Amino acid sequence: MQTETGVSLKPYNSFGLPAVAETLVRIRSDADVRRVVDDPALGRAPKFILGGGSNIILTRDMPQTVLKVEVPGRRLVEERDDAWIVEAGAGESWHDFVMWTLEQGFPGLENLALIPGTVGASPVQNIGAYGLELRERFESLDGVDLRTGLGVTIGPEMCAFGYRDSVFKHSLAGRVVITRVRFRLPKPWRPVLGYLELERKVAETGVDEPGAQQIADWVIAIRRHKLPDPQQLGNAGSFFKNPLVSPEQCRDIIGRDPEIVHYPLPDGQVKLAAGWMIDACGWKGKSVGGAAVYDKQALVLVNRGGAIGSEVMTLARAIQESVYGRFGIRLEPEPVVL
Ligand code: EPU
Repeated sequence: MQTETGVSLKPYNSFGLPAVAETLVRIRSDADVRRVVDDPALGRAPKFILGGGSNIILTRDMPQTVLKVEVPGRRLVEERDDAWIVEAGAGESWHDFVMWTLEQGFPGLENLALIPGTVGASPVQNIGAYGLELRERFESLDGVDLRTGLGVTIGPEMCAFGYRDSVFKHSLAGRVVITRVRFRLPKPWRPVLGYLELERKVAETGVDEPGAQQIADWVIAIRRHKLPDPQQLGNAGSFFKNPLVSPEQCRDIIGRDPEIVHYPLPDGQVKLAAGWMIDACGWKGKSVGGAAVYDKQALVLVNRGGAIGSEVMTLARAIQESVYGRFGIRLEPEPVVL
């Protein structure tokens, strides 16, 4: 366990927002978490669990003790007749882990290539992209309870996964430090190609039976084309969730805006493309201070340089108001605002 004080969090959040952590503890193992719990001062202090910092908006300095999860490791746990079970330490980079699984010949995570952040954060918001969500590949995870210091293993039911949501954003928020995550990659492997942009790649290239690496390469190309690289332009991915509405509400909006991009879901609800709505309100390229709406994808806010958290939130609120004014829909931020 390594404890530091007065640590700048700017390098540790992908939006590149300035904030200082009074105390930061690097967590490299379950034992490190237990040491925090057993420490007289740290044990009682309020805590914030930080992964890759790719899904947070820092609006102020952090008086909480920041636990920066850096648990390493990746391995094949077990090969079954119907699946490979693979595991990674919570501190591993998500994308590097996906690439490793493909190199090792364990396909199944390719649609989730290039998502920023760490393995430990991936179940918290049930990451998803290009027709696949983490919950479809999740096996179980290990963590340590911050109140008791006891190790826990949590399966899919208890995770209560939803769209960009899980129990770790609710009753277990700030309570369990996730240290390892296991994934179930089904055999035989089958490609997931239902997403429009992947179907387009199949049509363009004529490759109608792509392998997992080919799909990863397409996903990487699509993401690079549409989404800003946080190394070059600070951002936290999609800034708002795609709102869910009833079919009646959707019909009402279509009546006024026939072009609106929407996806009927199996449960009867309809998902609306927030990026389309923000774009339709004319927000692409608009800015408040250093915070701006990305010009190729209106759902992504970026740091053009020197942005501070309050500018990001002023811009976000103005977008929410204009979308509400035109569509009667309240957009909900996707990253955690601190
Ligand atoms: N659109 C516009 N203008 C825009 C942005 C989007 O018209 O400025 C339209 C697009 O043309 C498309 C539709 O809106 O018809 C949806 O856009 P896109 O396919 O880019 O996906 P999204 O719904 O905006 C979601 C996820 C992304 C994920 C992509 C691909 C959420 C909040 N976002 O974005 O996830 O990569 O689908 O699966 O669900 C993230 O969560 O951080 C993230 C990047």
